[in-house]
Amino acid sequence: MGRRVHAEVSGSDGRRRVMTSLSIASLEDDDLTFVHEMLYEAAFWRRAANRPPLDTALNSPDLALYVRDWGRRGDGGLIARVDDLRAGAVWVRRFHADEHGYGYVDERTPEVCIAVAAEHRGHGIGRCLVAAMLAQLRLQGTHQVSLSVEIDNPARLLYESLGFTPLTTSEGAVTMVRNLA
Ligand SMILES: CC(C)(COP(=O)(O)OP(=O)(O)OC[C@H]1O[C@@H](n2cnc3c(N)ncnc32)[C@H](O)[C@@H]1OP(=O)(O)O)[C@@H](O)C(=O)NCCC(=O)NCCS
Repeated sequence: MGRRVHAEVSGSDGRRRVMTSLSIASLEDDDLTFVHEMLYEAAFWRRAANRPPLDTALNSPDLALYVRDWGRRGDGGLIARVDDLRAGAVWVRRFHADEHGYGYVDERTPEVCIAVAAEHRGHGIGRCLVAAMLAQLRLQGTHQVSLSVEIDNPARLLYESLGFTPLTTSEGAVTMVRNLA
């Protein structure tokens, strides 16, 4: 998938000059440990004190299916790096009716997952990642994507601003779709 894109941002904090570089590149196999961490962040975005340890959480079948046996047809994603360190991930996977994620619509519609590492949130990285993923999927001919977001997760505002619309609501979460045609 896509090539690496760089955006350089420079600033000054008095005497010291700060140079920050944002890059977005295709998700590769050696990014998977980071993707697991981001899946955990997305699932436990409330950061409640009683959230399970990462390994325990990722072994639960409903989360594992978002990353297990990565590399299936239709799997894809992007990794954002700040100064060459991983800062966020967006990825998509297609499911079947008999085993699927929370935001399942149908077998042709990939489901999107996203998270940005806590220390990098609020700087536009999430918006950049989702927009780039949508652009790439459109180029590949994907007709629509879906996702599931809990109703009180502020991420919903990001999705709405990027053209996702609600399809169904169930148990405090909304399934949203974004037409790419
Ligand atoms: C959701 C998430 C990926 C957004 O990434 P980000 O880099 O922080 O987002 P951006 O800086 O690009 O902000 C994009 C928009 O997100 C929305 N948003 C995200 N978090 C928000 C918050 N805590 N409060 C208010 N708005 C928020 C805003 O609408 C914002 O729009 P703006 O640019 O007009 O302010 C990131 O906050 C995250 O990883 N959250 C935890 C994991 C999670 O909830 N994943 C989604 C599961 S469905």
